[in-house]
Amino acid sequence: MKNKSLVIVGAQWGDEGKGKITDYFAQKAKMVVRFSGGDNAGHIIVSEGVRHKVTIVPSGILNPKVTNVIANGAVINLPRLVSELEILKKTGVETKNLLISNRAHVVLPYHIAIDELQENARGKNKIGTTKRGIGPTYQDKVDRLGVRICDLFDPNFKARFAEIIEFKNRLITKVYEGQALDFETIYQELMSNFEKIKNQIVDTSLLIDTAIKSGEYVLFEGAQGALLDIDHGTYPFVTSSNTSANNASLGSGINHNLITTALGVVKAYCTRVGTGGFPTEQANSIGEGIRKRGNEYGSNTGRPRRVGWFDAVALNYAIRTTGLDKIFITLLDVLSGEPVVKICTSYSLDGKEITTIPPLNADYQNCQANYIEMPGWNEDITKVHSFKDLPINAQNYLNKIKELCNIDILGFSVGPDRQQTILLEPEF
Ligand code: GDP
Ligand code: IMO
Ligand code: MG
Repeated sequence: MKNKSLVIVGAQWGDEGKGKITDYFAQKAKMVVRFSGGDNAGHIIVSEGVRHKVTIVPSGILNPKVTNVIANGAVINLPRLVSELEILKKTGVETKNLLISNRAHVVLPYHIAIDELQENARGKNKIGTTKRGIGPTYQDKVDRLGVRICDLFDPNFKARFAEIIEFKNRLITKVYEGQALDFETIYQELMSNFEKIKNQIVDTSLLIDTAIKSGEYVLFEGAQGALLDIDHGTYPFVTSSNTSANNASLGSGINHNLITTALGVVKAYCTRVGTGGFPTEQANSIGEGIRKRGNEYGSNTGRPRRVGWFDAVALNYAIRTTGLDKIFITLLDVLSGEPVVKICTSYSLDGKEITTIPPLNADYQNCQANYIEMPGWNEDITKVHSFKDLPINAQNYLNKIKELCNIDILGFSVGPDRQQTILLEPEF
């Protein structure tokens, strides 16, 4: 039963290349399960020279033999899901192999409106959300006011939905002084999109449990990253769900013992979109150079990503709190050309040296990064096929990360294409 299920999550602040790595492992898998987040995610997958983008559709979709599952822990914006499927179909991707949990929550127009209104109300304390309504949808889930996919089959749904919208309109107009939404328009749009995916809705918990127990190889795909986790991330500058590998079982409704290995995807440097502490940030020409070479602009919102040096304190924290067994390092090619590469090994806070992330945002904002410096490399590494093909300085860089974080590196990636992926444990 070795490696019969693998969880793949981001181990930094998102955009680590999870989509690419999930697509890579999906070539050998039977099922890919997306277990958290919504269309706040944005993954670019390049296969056979074609660039695809997914937000809520699992990253296994380019593999026609894979069953792709959106599980209960994810939240779904139906019009966005439907249009994403249409775009994929137009580029020749088979989308019939997508199944959707009957227990997943639905992102609705009032969630999106409230996300925007809340952000505006926060003024200079803005989180910098993707404005996809994710926070308000998870808020309603916890408040037991959410709409689940299964509710759309309920003959009494329309009346309940009307009550919810009436309540939300009071909130929008009286508290946030925004524009009321029209119930009939929202209801008709929701039901017409529901009709288009209705036949793909099932009890995904049962499906996943059966697949693993019958020996199939199942992947679990997280969204965002460990440091955006609602419990363990850099709160309040986080997303509204548990992005952790530990949430894979809860977010898909299976026994945690059925999950064999947790893999963290890690950029060879750090990026962050939105507000919040970022001790290794390089808001200078180094950061700009990396942003340009790495094309570090949000695939979802187009925002330039903030860029910084590799942070071993943050990764060690992520390894512990999200329960990682191995890491996969991406975008190593982007560091080519840096004369010196730096790795943060501790922070200084109020004159003390610390090696973990403090809970208070004000403290995290004040952390100064302490670095080790290593000589960089100039060679183009985008065509290497093995570890030993890498320049010695790039080898040393990977080995240093492994040593500082005491974790196995399962592989590394040197370009966006599926082919530009090097697995260090071929039997995996
Ligand atoms: P995700 O949200 O974690 O799936 O990551 P994104 O897709 O948002 O961002 C990662 C970006 O890096 C995408 O544009 C990928 O095509 C690209 N990418 C992934 N791996 C590599 C790599 O090894 N090298 C380079 N240059 N680009 C990569
Ligand atoms: P993927 O899956 C990077 C960030 C937003 C903001 C915070 C809260 O592509 O890695 P939200 O809209 O979730 O309420 O925003 O989280 N964020 C992401 N940053 N990658 C993502 O997804 C993100 N999803 C949310 O920028 O700071
Ligand atoms: Mg992304």
